[in-house]
Amino acid sequence: MARVRHEFPQPDQRTMTMIMTTTQLSQLEREAEAAMTRAYAPYSKFRVGAALLAADGTVHSGANVENASYPAGICAERTAISRAVSDGVCVFTAIVVCTEAAVPTPPCGICRQVLHEFAPLLEVTSITTSGARQTWRLDALLPAAFAANLMAVS
Ligand code: THU
Repeated sequence: MARVRHEFPQPDQRTMTMIMTTTQLSQLEREAEAAMTRAYAPYSKFRVGAALLAADGTVHSGANVENASYPAGICAERTAISRAVSDGVCVFTAIVVCTEAAVPTPPCGICRQVLHEFAPLLEVTSITTSGARQTWRLDALLPAAFAANLMAVS
């Protein structure tokens, strides 16, 4: 059987930043809102959609998927990451999260950690269906993050 080498992002790729065009940003916003409409959130009724922009220009979206066993639910951001990585894409430059909340909501703590694994300097934008928006860089949302390089033993 042929060996398939999976390319994980190199540190220089993970920390790359990229200028996003306004067209790309609008596409991310549209895809995040469309993903939100596909959320499975019968328990919280809080629908969330996320759309990730990869360094290769592709867009990967996801929605929150809840479960009757509440902790088994997954957030939109992690659904989007899991879909992208499973499709062989793991270098990202931006994410847009869309909700129907009154104010833009940043990703939860677990999602911040998962996003950090692939894109420590990710540009994170949260939008609401009523038109509010806020942008942060991931290192501001998750300072002093735990990461693989910290596991080196002396
Ligand atoms: N949720 C997300 O999908 N993303 C976030 O960043 C915050 C929370 C979901 C999880 C759950 O399905 C619902 O929103 C309420 O917490």
